[in-house]
Amino acid sequence: RAKVNVKTIMKMKNREKIAAVTAYDYVSAKLVDLTGVDIILVGDSVGMVAHGFNTTLPVDMNIMLLHLSSVARAQPRALVVGDMPFLSYETSIEEAVRNAGLMMKTGADAVKLEGGLEYEETVKALVKAGIPVMGHIGLNPQRALLIGGYRKRGVTEKEREKILEDAKALERAGVFSIVIEYTSADVAKEVTQEVGVPTICIGSGPWCDGQILVFHDLLGLTESPPPFSKQYANLREIIINAVKSYVDEVKSGKFPEEKHYFIEKKD
Ligand code: KIV
Ligand code: NA
Repeated sequence: RAKVNVKTIMKMKNREKIAAVTAYDYVSAKLVDLTGVDIILVGDSVGMVAHGFNTTLPVDMNIMLLHLSSVARAQPRALVVGDMPFLSYETSIEEAVRNAGLMMKTGADAVKLEGGLEYEETVKALVKAGIPVMGHIGLNPQRALLIGGYRKRGVTEKEREKILEDAKALERAGVFSIVIEYTSADVAKEVTQEVGVPTICIGSGPWCDGQILVFHDLLGLTESPPPFSKQYANLREIIINAVKSYVDEVKSGKFPEEKHYFIEKKD
């Protein structure tokens, strides 16, 4: 099947649900791309799920580019989106373009950044530079400290209006899709109806144009996954059992077996 591009994604609205998943390295990107997934997001969630940080704030461009290049070398059919990390786009439009450009040079097909109305001009500048942008509204983990943590969004009337306003600003600015995170499902539904670009939801209900989950949450690798994620496997158990078997066999001398070593014939 043909490589997915941003036009492919845009045309899926009202036709076919968009399935997106994160991946952070060559192996996981190769594997998830065999499933027919539409979008691979190299998310800054990598800081939490792969590097053990408590928030995504410590993630920087170096970390993102290392993971992005690893994913890009898998040459996925899926659209590869690079997540703009904290402080890579907030300080100035110039810096935003430069950093998003580095993402593209490293193999991203598009970038994602958190924020709505406040980043309208930034998104416009990126699009002007030829960089496709995915928006991200509702819960913005990079700014969670302002609202006292990873809280549900779209709860008050004021919040609902702001979320809709953010979505419209992003559409005006030229995004090709919008992630809606952890909002009341009816708010995501309204946004989905009100904007012409596809919405891709996480924890925001079924009435969106697509869904996204974090690789480690989906596979049951995360110790305490968020309530809105679903575990389609228990890889923690599989990995623990496999490594435990290995450790036991080393201790007992069962591994390595004859087929795992050689004895060179002397002449
Ligand atoms: O970093 C990430 O994984 C994300 C998704 C949750 C949308 O931004
Ligand atoms: Na993110």
